[in-house]
Amino acid sequence: MSAKPSFNPRDTALDVLFAVLVGGRSLDAALAEYVPADADSRDAGFCRAIAYGVLRHHRRLGAIRDRLLHKSLRSRDQDMALLVEIGLQQLVAMDVPAHAAVSETVAVARGRGKHWAARLINALLRRFQRERDACLALVDAAPSVRTSVPDWLLTQLRHDWPDAWDSLLEAQNTRAPMTLRVNRRRQSVAGYQQRLAEAGLPARTLDGFPDALVLEQPIAVSLLPGFEDGDCSVQDGAAQLAVELLSPAAGDRVLDACAAPGGKAAHALERSDAALLALDVDEARLQRVTGTLQRLGLAAECRVADAAATDEWWDGRPFERILLDAPCSGTGVIRRHPDIKWLRRADDPPRLQANQRRLLDALWPLLARGGRLVYCTCSILAAENEAVIAAFMQDAPDAQAVDPALPVGQRVGYGQQILTGDAGVDGFYYACLEKR
Ligand SMILES: C[S@@+](CC[C@H](N)C(=O)[O-])C[C@H]1O[C@@H](n2cnc3c(N)ncnc32)[C@H](O)[C@@H]1O
Repeated sequence: MSAKPSFNPRDTALDVLFAVLVGGRSLDAALAEYVPADADSRDAGFCRAIAYGVLRHHRRLGAIRDRLLHKSLRSRDQDMALLVEIGLQQLVAMDVPAHAAVSETVAVARGRGKHWAARLINALLRRFQRERDACLALVDAAPSVRTSVPDWLLTQLRHDWPDAWDSLLEAQNTRAPMTLRVNRRRQSVAGYQQRLAEAGLPARTLDGFPDALVLEQPIAVSLLPGFEDGDCSVQDGAAQLAVELLSPAAGDRVLDACAAPGGKAAHALERSDAALLALDVDEARLQRVTGTLQRLGLAAECRVADAAATDEWWDGRPFERILLDAPCSGTGVIRRHPDIKWLRRADDPPRLQANQRRLLDALWPLLARGGRLVYCTCSILAAENEAVIAAFMQDAPDAQAVDPALPVGQRVGYGQQILTGDAGVDGFYYACLEKR
């Protein structure tokens, strides 16, 4: 018997998908665990592409499988059910020769000692090739299946965005661009764009996003010129708008209440010599803030704390600027984290909303008169955004909402909502509150 190769992209993708869809792990954590650091970069890229693709289209692929199967697989064969999705994803949406997609997927079942499944998957994938058009037409009749979204999320998006939900769901299944934030303490955007071009990495600027460059092709960060020296960071354009609204001045006391992994804190410090306090409740995540600031040559005070437990960490001196980048459902960044669709539950938004309001209530008293608090989330659900701010405004007579006037998105009551894909950026919500 020949030895099993140490890294088989399809086999590893199956481990990753099982960890996410059955084990409830995040995609990032599962990829970090199963894809060896020394794996061939093409194999690793192929494995990632399968995992992302299956998670984007999980419901649709599952519906195709269930149409073609005569009887459902047993729950102890969930791995083989996912392996069918891996095979279908290659046939439906990937640039893989069909014979390789079938035979290599079947080989994974055989390699795991499930010979009955190997025969079944072989027959099922071949039947799909013959009946492809009819099969896709049938499953695609239902929008929730065609766009692969759980029912609760579809209902919510239809309610919140009656005119845009369909295109929004399409945008969520599209691969996101790789956007950089140029560290303008070290060079101009045009200067860095030139360096990228010289390195064979063309990138374009983004209107209204003064520090952003969008790469034509995503690449490993290690290949970005000067990345280790802090010349640039990877950050979506929508996330870069926080600093435009916060606009800290030199010497301002700035609180970043939910700071990890530190993208927005670093951006604020690239722009101004503010005195920034970065909090995060998660110690391991806070260490990433420290690492990011070190790489960029920036300094801030970093503390592990529940931002709402102000008695435990606040020294009593008000902040001129507060950023509350609140923990949220992440529904605006599903195109980057398709596992969110399957890991989030219907009762998450109300639970998150209560916590968002708790944080806002606790932090508002810490804002100086004339100071500004920026509330944002990477959610596209009204419950976590406009509903939180509207309810807060009812109860805070000294709060005044300022028009965020962002270059992208739409005004929604007090704030501005960016829907995933608007101007090519992630879905985000921003509200900007000043203290009278
Ligand atoms: C959306 S992320 C922040 C992203 C960050 N601002 C950036 O730009 O890189 C939300 C963060 O809030 C943290 N968090 C959740 N609850 C918190 C709390 N009660 N106090 C402080 N941080 C909290 C989470 O650990 C998570 O790192």
